[in-house]
Amino acid sequence: MPSLLEQGRTHDCGSLRASDDGREVILFGWVHRQRNRGGRIFVDLRDRAGITQIVFGPDIHAEAHGLAAGLRAEYCVAIAGKVISRGENANENMATGAIEVEGTAVELFSSSEPTPLTIADDERLDALETTRLRYRYLDLRRPSLQRNFILRSQVATLTRATLAAAGFLELETPYMVKYTPGGARNFLVPSRLSPGKFYALAESPQIFKQLFMVAGFDKYFQITRCFRDEDLRNDRQPEFTQIDIEMSFATPERLFDHMEALMARLWQEVLGVELPRPFLRMPWAEAMARYGSDKPDIRFGLEFHDISDLVRGSGFGPFEQAGYVKGLCVPAEHAGELSRGRLDKLTEFVKKREHGGAKGLAWAKIKDDGSWNSPIAKALGAERCAAIAAAMGAGPGSALLFIADDFHTTHAALNALRLELRDSLGLVKGDAQWRFLWVTNFPLFEKSDRGWVSAHHPFTSPRLDDIPLLDEDPGKVLAQAYDLVLNGNEIGGGSIRIHRSDVQAKIFEVLGLSEAEIQQKFGFLLEAFRYGPPPHGGIAFGLDRIAMLMCDAQSLRDVIAFPKTSRGQDLMTGCPGEADDEQLAELFITHRPLPGSAD
Ligand code: AMO
Ligand code: AMP
Repeated sequence: MPSLLEQGRTHDCGSLRASDDGREVILFGWVHRQRNRGGRIFVDLRDRAGITQIVFGPDIHAEAHGLAAGLRAEYCVAIAGKVISRGENANENMATGAIEVEGTAVELFSSSEPTPLTIADDERLDALETTRLRYRYLDLRRPSLQRNFILRSQVATLTRATLAAAGFLELETPYMVKYTPGGARNFLVPSRLSPGKFYALAESPQIFKQLFMVAGFDKYFQITRCFRDEDLRNDRQPEFTQIDIEMSFATPERLFDHMEALMARLWQEVLGVELPRPFLRMPWAEAMARYGSDKPDIRFGLEFHDISDLVRGSGFGPFEQAGYVKGLCVPAEHAGELSRGRLDKLTEFVKKREHGGAKGLAWAKIKDDGSWNSPIAKALGAERCAAIAAAMGAGPGSALLFIADDFHTTHAALNALRLELRDSLGLVKGDAQWRFLWVTNFPLFEKSDRGWVSAHHPFTSPRLDDIPLLDEDPGKVLAQAYDLVLNGNEIGGGSIRIHRSDVQAKIFEVLGLSEAEIQQKFGFLLEAFRYGPPPHGGIAFGLDRIAMLMCDAQSLRDVIAFPKTSRGQDLMTGCPGEADDEQLAELFITHRPLPGSAD
């Protein structure tokens, strides 16, 4: 008799139904749970498709029953048996709950030591994250993570199918590239063959995909890894995956159309959700004015109101001296929750540097007669209060919250406050609300201590009408750049590119690069643009972020199989690790003593 392994499995552990009643089956998987009930042994057998209950009894098959008694959690086994419909006793909570399998053979592939984290108790996960990452292969066995990675795989497969069908070629670009300044900090790779020189790990395929357009490939995509030496957060990993896209003869609308079709297909086929199209579009300036964020969560209200004009001349110092006085109105149905203690806490919240660093939070509660209960009511005067309430749509019971400061602080702090209220007041109802938004017309440059820097990257085209402003007032130049935002998360960003070498050279000049630097760093790109480059544009989506949102996960670590900790370490393999002297010598690298070390 061939072994069960040789015979092969007939089904996975998620597929048997009442209609399979009477069928002889072979299943492979892991013991999820094993329990003995009055002489019968129940084994929940698990694989990536689901869980099936197997029942063993001396009356069913004595030898199999004996073997089943020795099974423990996470043993890897084959089981053969007969499907029995459970009829009235069906377990509604299990996809396979209408049946069980009466076990007639057990084949042990391997046993398992007691696991350092409990896989069966997925919902009440109690293991520390460090334990989970140290034993990641066990963590990944948990059904919830298996679901995440199955979804992630579907997203990648559908992306390939959709883009290929739309005429995009899947092409690869190098990971080991020349260091180009600007953008994220790069990881460096020493070169053995060119002593003293370094490759950079590509932070994105940006320049290469543009060169594909120069090469005439017309439409390109790649699901590719990008490497950035950044400070890490829940939505940032040092290596992450982009769905990277570029197309020739692109206009923003033509590109949006392709990208919306891709998103619509993903949501439809993976989640069964029909996305209304076209997606909403909003210029950056409007997003900032209404939400104080370039990635606004538009699933709920609490929009900002600019009351700078209304408070002018009031004599209330903090409002008089500030460039921007803005506020939001919490409607009466939620404002009741904003007690004095809570308002004091919110004031402390907006003062924190990571929440914008506001100087204070002014508040007002509207009484039934329309008058204000507020520390600033007297300073503003009844008439101004009434005008502000009217402008902000506030009525009896509403609460108003104000911040006065410069552009950046006012918007950053009020945005942090708005998102805090979203979470603490539960303003987003139902989890099935997917609100996509294209944010467009970003500024081309941002001011830094080093002068102007690119808000996106230096290959982003200004709006053509704004080109003359490059000389006069770079801060006013708007870019043909766009981000795709989903429920307050930036899931993609891109732009129409510069394809004229004179405009590209001008941008480098505004960025403060000398002619020699430009030639040294980007000479090859400017040279390429001398040979008939097509107008082109593109975008890159964060595949990890898309998967995270689709899975309703809280961290990228739940959708990246082998992630790094916030200190950039892999706890399972213990990387980064040391290099020995021989390896370093081969790379012409000598150790500098670490700060604080003895030698
Ligand atoms: P950008 O830098 O905006 O654009 O990146 C595109 C998208 O990638 C995701 N992303 C990240 N995800 C996880 N961890 C990170 N550290 C991380 N950094 C970025 C985000 C982001 O929207 N070459 C351009 C695209 C273009 O212009 O075509 C680029 O890389 O979801
Ligand atoms: P004060 O007159 O300093 O007691 O402030 C009165 C109220 O205004 C308090 O609730 C402060 O938190 C608030 N406040 C002070 N400065 C600001 C500011 N820049 N923006 C918003 N509210 C402020």
